[in-house]
Amino acid sequence: MKRTKDHFSRLNQKYERIYTQLQELLAKSPHLLSKMATTCALLHHKLSHFFWTGFYILIDQELCVGPYQGSLACQLLAKNKGVCWAGINNKKTIIVADVHQFPGHIPCDSRSNSEIVVPLFDTEGNIWGVLDVDSCQFEAFSTIDKEWLEKITALLKPNPEELKWLFLAQSNL
Ligand code: SME
Repeated sequence: MKRTKDHFSRLNQKYERIYTQLQELLAKSPHLLSKMATTCALLHHKLSHFFWTGFYILIDQELCVGPYQGSLACQLLAKNKGVCWAGINNKKTIIVADVHQFPGHIPCDSRSNSEIVVPLFDTEGNIWGVLDVDSCQFEAFSTIDKEWLEKITALLKPNPEELKWLFLAQSNL
């Protein structure tokens, strides 16, 4: 889809405002899970090209769905298959203009046509999951989304202890 310079400049300004609002919101809770839930809620409701917005978290070598907004998600993603695992294995942001052309793409909702996956790193540089966004439009995501979503996910950066405590904690009741 052909987009004008004006479109990209408006999108950039929108991300700037979202980033400022998120910084304020995330400072209000020290908890990673609250930060994740708030991040995907804000992005999902402010950006009209976002159809599904959420996290997949690496737990015991599996990618499990985390906080999300949008239609019902796949709970676990088959290992080393699809866009999210490509983001994990390559440790870099993946932009897919047409998901139907992506080998092994996992369709959780047939209305999705393009996707962006941003890897999440802890303070030691270990990958612990991805932010995944789907759009109903083809070619919905550009380097503007990539740059801002990388900056936004960097606001979450937990330390390894926090991750262990949150996602691998066993009940001690
Ligand atoms: N399409 C993703 C699966 C997750 S959903 O988009 C919510 C993939 O291929 O990994």
